Amino acid sequence: MKNILFIVGSLRKQSFNRQLAAMAEKMLVNKFNIQYLEFEDVPFMNQDLEANTPAPVVRVRKEILAADGIWIFTPEYNYSYPGLLKNLLDWLSRPMDISDFTNPTAVVGKKVTVSGAGGNNKTASCRAKLNELLEFMKMQVMTEPQTGIALGIEAWTKGEFNLTDEQVAMLKEQAEKFTAFVNA
Ligand SMILES: Cc1cc2nc3c(=O)[nH]c(=O)nc-3n(C[C@H](O)[C@H](O)[C@H](O)COP(=O)(O)O)c2cc1C
Repeated sequence: MKNILFIVGSLRKQSFNRQLAAMAEKMLVNKFNIQYLEFEDVPFMNQDLEANTPAPVVRVRKEILAADGIWIFTPEYNYSYPGLLKNLLDWLSRPMDISDFTNPTAVVGKKVTVSGAGGNNKTASCRAKLNELLEFMKMQVMTEPQTGIALGIEAWTKGEFNLTDEQVAMLKEQAEKFTAFVNA
C-alpha cells in the first residue's frame, strides 16, 4: 500500500483542521497507509543550523521521502498560511545535502493537495498562496478539487466541528481524486 502523509497547519489540540484530517483519513482507509507529520519541534529556520542539520529536520525529511502523497489541512491566518507551516516548508525547500544547491530537496516532485477549515473565506486566500508556494518548490500540486470549509456558528461558539452533507461530499470528492492522482 502507498503512503500518504498528512500535515496539519495548526498546533491547537482541538484544531478543526486536525478534525477535518481525521475525516479524510476515514475516507482513505484501506487505500493508503496514513501518517501524520508532527513538526512542533522543528526549529525556526536559521542558516547557521544548516551545516549540522537539526534532528527534527532530519526526521521530517525522512517522513516526507517515504510518502507517495502529501495532504495539507490548514487554517488561514491573516489571509495567508500560518507561519509554522511556512517555517516547515522553508526547511523542506533546502537541498538535503547543503554542500551543493543542485542537490535535491525532500519535496521535489512530491504529489500534494490542500484543504482548509476557517472563516467565511473558506481558506481560499491561504490555499491560493500555498498552492503557489508548493508549485514554486517544484511539487506536483493537485489544485482541483480542494476542500474549503466555512466553519458553522457552533464551531465558534461551542467548539463543535460539524460538516454539512455538501461539505462531506466535497471532501470525499477530493479524497477520490487525490487517490487517483497519487496512483497515476
Ligand atoms: C493569527 C490568526 C489569524 C487568523 N486569520 C484568519 C483569516 O484570515 N481567515 C480566517 O478564515 N480565519 C482566520 N483565523 C481564525 C481561524 O480560522 C480559526 O482560529 C480556526 O479555528 C483555526 O484553525 P484550527 O481550528 O485548525 O486551529 C485566524 C486565527 C488566528 C489565530
